[in-house]
Amino acid sequence: MKIAVLTSGGDSAGMNAVVRAVVKAGILRGCETWVVREGYEGLVRGNTEALSEQSTDNPSVNLPEAASPADGASVNLIHNLRFGDGELLKDGTGDYLGTRSLKGRYIVRVGFDDVRGWFAEGGTLIGTARSKTFRTVEGRMQAAENMIREGIDALVVCGGDGSLTGADVFRAEWPKLVEALHAEGRITAEKAQMHAHLKIVGLVGSIDNDMSMTDLTIGAPTALVRICEAIDNINSTASSHSRAFVLEVMGRHCGWLALLAGVSGGADFVFIPERPPTSESWENEMCDCIQKHREVGKRKTIVIVAEGAIDRDLKPIKADYVKDVLAERLGLDTRVTTLGHTQRGGRPCAYDRVLPTLQGIEAVEALLEATPHSPSYMIGIQENKITRIPLMEAVAMTRAVSSAIEAKDFDKAMSYRDPEFKE
Ligand code: F6P
Repeated sequence: MKIAVLTSGGDSAGMNAVVRAVVKAGILRGCETWVVREGYEGLVRGNTEALSEQSTDNPSVNLPEAASPADGASVNLIHNLRFGDGELLKDGTGDYLGTRSLKGRYIVRVGFDDVRGWFAEGGTLIGTARSKTFRTVEGRMQAAENMIREGIDALVVCGGDGSLTGADVFRAEWPKLVEALHAEGRITAEKAQMHAHLKIVGLVGSIDNDMSMTDLTIGAPTALVRICEAIDNINSTASSHSRAFVLEVMGRHCGWLALLAGVSGGADFVFIPERPPTSESWENEMCDCIQKHREVGKRKTIVIVAEGAIDRDLKPIKADYVKDVLAERLGLDTRVTTLGHTQRGGRPCAYDRVLPTLQGIEAVEALLEATPHSPSYMIGIQENKITRIPLMEAVAMTRAVSSAIEAKDFDKAMSYRDPEFKE
């Protein structure tokens, strides 16, 4: 089997560990392995630019070697991925960079050594992008043609629910795309037959931990560590000045990061989308609580606001407004800190190396066992066991959470996110 792996949507710590695990497990199970740069956009672009460049303007560009490259290649590949597009070809750093040039190449064959040490790298080395072209049938047809040209018949996608849905659509549509490519003379009958089906598996890479039917998404543990460290740092300065701090944290429409940061950082009050404050005035509720904490001698106040926090009328609760309430009603010297992308970047914590490794290995097994009739699977973790879940079931459950919140049925929203949840 020829397996390609791509990362899509917002990056998250642990995505590189996914690529490493899929490549290593794939090779150990006798597969050929490829990475796709820039998410789905890379599938659409393929290697056609490199091919035309090689045949016309720049005959010195060689395509990467098909076999697993020699020692030291991993360093060079990371360097090229970071600094891009084979510019290094010209600066005389050595032949090897030249032969591994990535210029115009988006689907790159990789070996064991290429991914050595990747588990400790932040972000996604192979890049991620939001591809408009892949949303069109013509774009997906081009993607299919590029994959078939390289002989790829299996795809691992690491991303959020939108990216995984895209993968499932692609797989469902694949036979028609192949038929059309053959009808247009873009692939031979033999290739059309050989590539009649596409196998896909999804891994959830997102700091938000917002996917139903899995306990943890790749990148969420690292983001939580970052927030926790930030709270520890803020605590000392807040205490020194007896100040209040309002921290806005990421998570889109999910309050997992905010809630767990509140628990692990010892916050005084937390706002999350799934449990809006129930009292008529959340302002009074919050101020009463903080007032009590101050009365027992706390010199600092930490309030965490999830970026998707809402009140009981579904209106957004914004950090700046919370700050004004604390300052005006309690007279607290208050500051807002928005942690932003510091939560997303940087080295993965240990668990964001272990989880993607276990899930990447399982993804390869799922691909090897896939049949044209089995559903596309998402690899999850439930009660500390790595699981396979029909991808579209998990996506449907995830979407149901948002609908339940919009319908103000917050208990239902919680139960869609966690079936064990008791109302
Ligand atoms: O989904 C991950 C996430 O970091 C969310 O928490 C946040 O709302 C969003 O992506 C930010 O996206 P961008 O990096 O495009 O600003």
